[in-house]
Amino acid sequence: MDLPEWNTKELTPGQLSERSGVAVSALHFYEREGLISSRRTSGNQRRYKRDVLRRVAFVRLSQRVGIPLAEIRDALSTLPDGRTPTRSDWARLSSRWHADLDRRIDQLTRLRDDLTNCIGCGCLSLASCTLANPHDALGTEGPGARVIDVEID
Ligand code: FES
Repeated sequence: MDLPEWNTKELTPGQLSERSGVAVSALHFYEREGLISSRRTSGNQRRYKRDVLRRVAFVRLSQRVGIPLAEIRDALSTLPDGRTPTRSDWARLSSRWHADLDRRIDQLTRLRDDLTNCIGCGCLSLASCTLANPHDALGTEGPGARVIDVEID
């Protein structure tokens, strides 16, 4: 496929796919999901403004770090219409997720450390293994049922 001239203002779906590395079917999906938009030619063919390339890159990178599409769409909806997003626009959008990414990194770090301990152990004890029973917050209070509140007459 021929790459577009450097000063081309609009891209066909094939050109956008080639430049972004994203399949045309995925671009159509992004459009249906409201992440990118296009105009239609008189022949009903899609044309994307050149700055859609950055939107596609933003979507792909955000997905790679686990941001749900709905959150990506919300973030992109804050960009001004009719103006190419600036570097500070992109920085502002990505900063929204720093706290969430930090929290997930902490979780993975704890999981990694627990895994290191468990590989040497292998017991998978429901009473004491945080990997075998990771959501047992009440287990730190002792064995047995901790939240059953039954009145016995
Ligand atoms: S395998 Fe023994 S504590 Fe996790």
